[in-house]
Amino acid sequence: MKFHVLTLFPEMIRQGFGTSVTGRAMKNGLLALNAVDIREYSKDKHKHVDDYPYGGGAGMVMQPEPIGLAYADITKDMQKKPRVIYVTPQGSVFRQSMAEEFAREDELIFLCGHYEGVDERILEEIVTDYVSIGDYVLTGGELPALVMMDAISRLVPGVLNNEDSAEFESFHDNLLEHPHYTRPVEYHGKRVPDVLLSGHHENIDRWRREQSLKRTLERRPDLLETAVLTSKDLEYLQSLGWNHSPVSENVK
Ligand code: ADE
Repeated sequence: MKFHVLTLFPEMIRQGFGTSVTGRAMKNGLLALNAVDIREYSKDKHKHVDDYPYGGGAGMVMQPEPIGLAYADITKDMQKKPRVIYVTPQGSVFRQSMAEEFAREDELIFLCGHYEGVDERILEEIVTDYVSIGDYVLTGGELPALVMMDAISRLVPGVLNNEDSAEFESFHDNLLEHPHYTRPVEYHGKRVPDVLLSGHHENIDRWRREQSLKRTLERRPDLLETAVLTSKDLEYLQSLGWNHSPVSENVK
């Protein structure tokens, strides 16, 4: 997977992405990053990339030309038109299913805005997806782009050490993950649940599944509406007082 990021702060992207798991995956050749400084495409002698909004109002607007030139440069050798994600609080809210969809692409372009916004004409020309990371406003698109790139990267085969771990984490079957324990067996008077020490794998799996269901019911009951549940899961949830039914095709 190759990420191209159009930004005024390429160092922020390189630093953020070059650390930890994604940094290691770049060294291993599984991920690649092309952080492009939009300012380098400014034809202005002072390297301006923004100007006052037509019609008046506060703040500055990013101009279309530098972004258009940077985009043309990135895409000149591409075989097909790539997906271009504009990170904006006005977009659809990012979720795991989007990360899964984007992870199937070979290359992705992120466009990070700053100031009051970006000239609408360049957005209309190049953007395929408007995506937000949540209902709050940040100072720029770099952190949201990094959030999405991280979520997408960990789904690229080989990026995580243990291939299983991507599958069994929160949001697998649309459920939250069960709690985890490691040594010591007792910490501040609290013991690790006996079942985890029993070595009985069937019981452990059932316990984890139930914890997962219980946690989802307590913390994110909205997820249960579209969770993939077995009839045993349903019985357990009902024993906890859950009285909704999931979408029927999701019952295994
Ligand atoms: N830019 C500023 N705030 C944002 C958000 N919440 N999501 C995506 N891009 C943004």
